[in-house]
Amino acid sequence: PTIYAITPTYSRPVQKAELTRLANTFRQVAQLHWILVEDAAARSELVSRFLARAGLPSTHLHVPTPRRYKRPGLPRATEQRNAGLAWLRQRHQHQQRAQPGVLFFADDDNTYSLELFQEMRTTRKVSVWPVGLVGGRRYERPLVENGKVVGWYTGWRADRPFAIDMAGFAVSLQVILSNPKAVFKRRGSQPGMQESDFLKQITTVEELEPKANNCTKVLVWHTRTEKVNLANEPKYHLDTVKIEV
Ligand code: UGA
Ligand code: MN
Repeated sequence: PTIYAITPTYSRPVQKAELTRLANTFRQVAQLHWILVEDAAARSELVSRFLARAGLPSTHLHVPTPRRYKRPGLPRATEQRNAGLAWLRQRHQHQQRAQPGVLFFADDDNTYSLELFQEMRTTRKVSVWPVGLVGGRRYERPLVENGKVVGWYTGWRADRPFAIDMAGFAVSLQVILSNPKAVFKRRGSQPGMQESDFLKQITTVEELEPKANNCTKVLVWHTRTEKVNLANEPKYHLDTVKIEV
């Protein structure tokens, strides 16, 4: 099956560095289609040029987050992930049977091992695995008994129906297509509940397929990049040539 990675991304000083790390990983994964969705009113030249040279099958989308939702404490990238879902559904709408495919949401700042892709490729409906460096702990993970998810090891809001980060699950294309209305919602979605709100629409906890040796191996990390210090950027004496950053 093809792995579709939906990556929301937005303009900031570290953007190209993040995308470079991500492309260097994805390039090593067979049959991966990268759906990069810019949080912007138009496709930027930086990302267009970057993708053209990235050497990966990709689709470049864009949708701006409405200004009212650009606030601390509100979920990020809702519109961008939905744009990726809409593209996938549109692309496969005329097929009688879904082509084998697996979707996952790959934020641009996380760290992904290559083993993760081998694990998710065998997803039948919805698969799950641990995520490192999240929830105020070294990792969060689904608790597994007899091959079934029975609960969650997490340091944060253990009452979430699916106490899992965006980086902790994959969904088969078949499930995406047979639940055409499943999307990320702004209304009523509290911070940190996006994953649960989405997963509730397409699966149940009992149905989840544990990966990474019954969820005992961390294969993806919720790393976050430090905000860069640009205090010494010149205000007047600008560099005399145009530099691609
Ligand atoms: C956590 C989760 O890991 C995310 O999946 C979730 O979207 C996010 O919380 C949330 O609050 O909604 P965190 O590291 O705090 O992640 O969020 P970011 O990595 O800053 O953003 C998640 C993704 O959205 C990234 O791919 C980022 O490039 C993108 N983003 C962020 C935008 O497209 N626009 C923005 O204004 C901010
Ligand atoms: Mn992040």
